[in-house]
Amino acid sequence: MARVFVTGATGVVGPHLLRRLVADDHDVTAMGRHDPDPAGDPDVEWIRGDVARGRGLGPAWRADCVVHLASQSRGRMDEVNVRGTAGLLASMRPEAHMVYASVVGCDRHPLGYYQSKWRGEQEVLGAGRPWTIVRGTQTHELLWRWLQGGPVCPLGKGFRWQPAAAAEHADALADAVRDGPQRRQVDVGGPEILTSEQVVGTYEEHTGRTAPRLRVPAVGRVARAYREGTHCAEYARVGRETWRTFVVGHARDAVR
Ligand SMILES: NC(=O)c1ccc[n+]([C@@H]2O[C@H](COP(=O)([O-])OP(=O)(O)OC[C@H]3O[C@@H](n4cnc5c(N)ncnc54)[C@H](OP(=O)(O)O)[C@@H]3O)[C@@H](O)[C@H]2O)c1
Repeated sequence: MARVFVTGATGVVGPHLLRRLVADDHDVTAMGRHDPDPAGDPDVEWIRGDVARGRGLGPAWRADCVVHLASQSRGRMDEVNVRGTAGLLASMRPEAHMVYASVVGCDRHPLGYYQSKWRGEQEVLGAGRPWTIVRGTQTHELLWRWLQGGPVCPLGKGFRWQPAAAAEHADALADAVRDGPQRRQVDVGGPEILTSEQVVGTYEEHTGRTAPRLRVPAVGRVARAYREGTHCAEYARVGRETWRTFVVGHARDAVR
């Protein structure tokens, strides 16, 4: 059993990770900027905090392992992804293990968010602490949110995707906690690489809805990187749940 501190626990991946960490019998403290779901797991201790402001980081000092999920994909991203990561690392004991959730291809893809995540990785590498970086491809849940209407829909023509279940990302992060510091980056991706057209086609077929029109320009360096699949990881640890299985499972809710 380890004492594990999880930031960004209220996001898409966080709840899956908390469930797995509790099942693995860890002593879990989770941070959120707002109060947790009252129906949440009573075995998880919650603390309110903000990594950009350096608030609520006390449990990092008591932790054997910190899983850093908190991230910001818009606005002043570096305040969370880079300076927040540095502040969190400085709050940990020197021997504690940092598991940093990052994005596949962030070192090569020019999207501002991915670049910010890559700068966050550099903080982890430079801190001289035991570490594991778990880079994921986009989750089914994220694509679903885009297709449900926003706030942006970056499914440009011919872009490639390797969507994966958030629960499977969470499993890879929990495995990193269990296995201890690997001092390497682990890539995690979904079972298949699809084009935007395939992603949208499956969505429309099973929900009966029309996907929102592309709201990002399909030209330029970022579009090229998406078309080339720089954010995909063919040789990643591959998950099992396909996009089709996910969509079929969610379609009933979508038409309500
Ligand atoms: N989902 C994906 O497709 C995907 C793919 C690859 C990698 N990842 C990585 O996996 C991690 C988790 O992703 P996710 O999809 O679960 O993220 P998410 O749904 O966007 O949630 C982000 C989390 O970060 C928290 N957060 C944001 N700013 C914060 C701040 N200043 N202080 C403290 N917490 C803050 C949010 O809290 P609030 O609830 O208060 O906003 C939320 O809990 C991220 O690091 C992401 O880069 C995700």
